[in-house]
Amino acid sequence: MKVTSKQLRKMWLDFYKERGHVDIGAVSLIGDGTTGVMFNVAGMQPLMPYLLGEKHPKGTRLCNVQGCVRTVDIEEVGDESHFTFFEMLGNWSLGDYFKKEKTKWSFDFLTKELGFDKDKLCSTVFAGNENVARDDEIVGYLIDAGVKKENIFYLKENWWNLPGTVNTPCGPDNEWFYPRHDRPCSDHCDATCECGRWVEVGNDVYMQYMVKEDGSVEPLKNKNIDTGFGFERLLMYINGLTDGYKTDLFEGVIKFLEQQTGKIYGESAEETKAMRIIADHIRTAVMLIGDANGILPSNVGAGYILRRLIRRALRYAKFLGLTKEQLTDVAKIYINDVYNESYPLLPEKQEYICEELLKEATKFDRTLEQGTREFTKLITNLAKFAPEVKRISGEKAFRLFDTFGFPLELTEEMAAEQGYTIDKEGFKKAFEEHQAKSKGVAKGEFKSGLQDDGVVTTKYHTATHLLNAALKRVLGPQCHQMGSNITAERLRFDFPCDHKMTAEELAQTEKLVNDWIEQGLTVTKEEMAKRKAVEIGAEAQFIERYPDVVSVYTIGDVSKEICTGPHVENTKELHHFHIAKEEASSSGVRRIKAILD
Ligand code: ALA
Repeated sequence: MKVTSKQLRKMWLDFYKERGHVDIGAVSLIGDGTTGVMFNVAGMQPLMPYLLGEKHPKGTRLCNVQGCVRTVDIEEVGDESHFTFFEMLGNWSLGDYFKKEKTKWSFDFLTKELGFDKDKLCSTVFAGNENVARDDEIVGYLIDAGVKKENIFYLKENWWNLPGTVNTPCGPDNEWFYPRHDRPCSDHCDATCECGRWVEVGNDVYMQYMVKEDGSVEPLKNKNIDTGFGFERLLMYINGLTDGYKTDLFEGVIKFLEQQTGKIYGESAEETKAMRIIADHIRTAVMLIGDANGILPSNVGAGYILRRLIRRALRYAKFLGLTKEQLTDVAKIYINDVYNESYPLLPEKQEYICEELLKEATKFDRTLEQGTREFTKLITNLAKFAPEVKRISGEKAFRLFDTFGFPLELTEEMAAEQGYTIDKEGFKKAFEEHQAKSKGVAKGEFKSGLQDDGVVTTKYHTATHLLNAALKRVLGPQCHQMGSNITAERLRFDFPCDHKMTAEELAQTEKLVNDWIEQGLTVTKEEMAKRKAVEIGAEAQFIERYPDVVSVYTIGDVSKEICTGPHVENTKELHHFHIAKEEASSSGVRRIKAILD
């Protein structure tokens, strides 16, 4: 390695510290609930209030290295450049310096510190739209900094804000691109080409606007800068590599996988893909479980994503002939050798992380083989008896979920490998029927737990979302809806909690809900792809139960849930919320009954 990962982090921080920045360190990977985004997906996420104008205690020039989790591309992991966890090298100006300094520093860091060829370095800049004019100003600064004029391109996509959010800072951006020497394209290929040759290595966002609900923008008090450079990508480039899994972040893990399996990384495409998936997913799982606000696998929200990661890793481990215990050995390499310095909490939580990983893997391990056999039988039968049918019924997919713990997405992926799709609507139906049966109630009651759509129950429905959000703040982000039932007299809400809630916790919960009612928060409904809803952190008790396009209800910046509704328009309509009872529901599950008066 010419430059190690540890050196690169330091180079970034030193560079900006020399230019008056304070290293503010990293925050938790788990969203704090204020933006409604499930994971920390960008270094700017925790800095939102300061970009909007609040004074930051550490000043106006900040920098850090921030871990991020983006899971929208889980299925893409397996190639050489997709990761579900990555680190972002960040620096910020909060109403301090602006375009002139930033363009020069980004250019200098890439070319002088890291040795990027200045003749090959390209920049894309904002081409303008109906709201904001083309960013001509920046082109002059880029040229002054040293970027070749012919390497600068206008693009209308060069605009950034935290995906899926409104009333958040945004602005035109300047993206830095560098070509991969191993991916030649046609003579005319430039940084705007999507042939795969051009890799974005960094992004400087000029955050001077706020995006409103209707999509319009308004100027912010300050002209800010939000920078994000891709750590893994830079590490790859400066070491002359074209495969992120060959950097020192993964070296030890890949070597371990080679030793344990007797297979050589890079030799067979299938085995290489499996090694990458294991390396990526276990790394992210370690980070999520070992985080300061660590989460555990479950069937909802962030916990469901974690479950998918671990189960998918186990499936590929089996393919390579590895045991679940060997997956925890992979975890230990990350904990002790790779991230011990930058994430000191991990070694402290090692035992816990490995235990939880093993627990989840064990749960799945028991049924993985059986389920896979069942799946193979299914495909074989279809091919034999109905070769024209290239679709797996919802019932069959549900059986794999219910009996063998296969997340729907896993079945979908396995099916796709064989050229089959899944009837997801059918899956949902099977799920609902199962719910109805197991609870012994009529199927008609399953409209998100509503028994009738009257005015009162609508209010209780919104109150349920507020209660869910309040419990997360009081008991921790792992808290979520496990069951809900609403009548015109009360709401009932079940959630995981290992103790009887104290009087103080109950009072806090009640107060939070009543504060939100009093604040008169607007309730908005938005239709979107389920994938996107999950990515922006919208919660759902049973994500599998929903169709591909879902409604997401957002209450102020307090709550975001996938739900069929209906809801009130403003929390004021709820008047007053009161917890009537808190009791045990089953082991580790508590139940609250609450009324609106
Ligand atoms: N926040 C910007 C990004 O994530 C820098 O690309």
